[in-house]
Amino acid sequence: MTPTASDLHALPSRCRHRFPIFEKRVYVNSCSQGALSDAVRDSYEQYLRDWDEYGAPWEYWVERTEAARAVFAKLINAAPDEVAVTTSLSAGVAALASGLRFAGPRHKVVLTDWEFPTIGQIWHAQESRGARVVHVHEAEDGTIPPRNFRRVIDEETKLVSITHVCYRNGAMLDVKPIVALAHERGVPVLLDSYQAIGSLPIDVKALGVDFLAAGVLKYLLGSAGLGFLYCRRELWESAWPTATGWFADRNVFEMDIHDYSPAADARRFQSGTPPVPSIYAGIAGIELMQEIGIAATRKHVRRLTELLIEGVDDLGGEVATPRNPSERGALVCIRSTDAERLVGELDREGIVTSSRDGNLRVSLHAYNTPEDVKTVLWELGRRRELLARSR
Ligand SMILES: Cc1ncc(COP(=O)(O)O)c(C=O)c1O
Repeated sequence: MTPTASDLHALPSRCRHRFPIFEKRVYVNSCSQGALSDAVRDSYEQYLRDWDEYGAPWEYWVERTEAARAVFAKLINAAPDEVAVTTSLSAGVAALASGLRFAGPRHKVVLTDWEFPTIGQIWHAQESRGARVVHVHEAEDGTIPPRNFRRVIDEETKLVSITHVCYRNGAMLDVKPIVALAHERGVPVLLDSYQAIGSLPIDVKALGVDFLAAGVLKYLLGSAGLGFLYCRRELWESAWPTATGWFADRNVFEMDIHDYSPAADARRFQSGTPPVPSIYAGIAGIELMQEIGIAATRKHVRRLTELLIEGVDDLGGEVATPRNPSERGALVCIRSTDAERLVGELDREGIVTSSRDGNLRVSLHAYNTPEDVKTVLWELGRRRELLARSR
């Protein structure tokens, strides 16, 4: 059913006024960084006020860290003790990697061609510790079907590490069958949900994943400096992180320099002093997204991405993102003859986008309207020479 224009205004009319950037720009770049809201700005001001007024309110700041853990746990349907508060997605995944042993019969890590660089780099770094890294490739049609994992997940596999939505082409993996296959073969699965979280509901129990890593700066509307690693409680003891720090200790305030005893729960994947300013902002961002509604955002964005894809088709351009809405996230990638130049030219027209891999990236969120999509399409139409032609 074609959505009516008023349907597509319902969500932005509730929240767009909270993001001042829209007074000046068409912001369609949430795949890089969510737009700054009044709530997140206020949270930073609150941090400065607290610092100014109380000096060193560490008890409160540690309590804020626990609040961030709880808010994130609720967001993904986990328990707070299954969540580590980290300073980036990379920090959590690196702590996990450092805690795995690759000496035994299970030493293989299975990834896809769609991983963010940090994931590839962290797992390849483990080759010096005995790991063997195997990539599952894209099929001819540009997808990575779950059946492609059948040949590579075996009795030598230690972990399957997959991205939820690809940062380069906007494609979403069909996570559940991959998890089912891995579990059948006794292998845990780590999901990098950074390009999905906040743009669609995520339930770790329903997905069945064992680990999930993410951060808050994209569709969760926070800022840089805060990430999370979920670890299913049954797997806490499966890793003994050697990349660590005092906030990962079983008792942070034991201050024992003669011993390493990591926390019994997911906190073992933490490191040093928590990123307090980013925690204030991260809580505000997540709470704002919950208030806006993540399920409603998914529906809204799905329709906007349809409009965008149809519009690019009409211009004779080529979309790198899957056509089937259940196979894509909030990001649409459009092939370009010169993506850098296109991003620059759009920027001069007040439209904020980004590029990767020769593609223009346009990502839509709860605050975007059909007019934003029309403006992007209008400007693309004026620069058809920068669109790669569809075959
Ligand atoms: C899919 C994905 N994973 C990981 C990252 C990076 O995470 P971090 O810089 O927090 O380690 C990004 C950021 O762009 C991403 O898109």
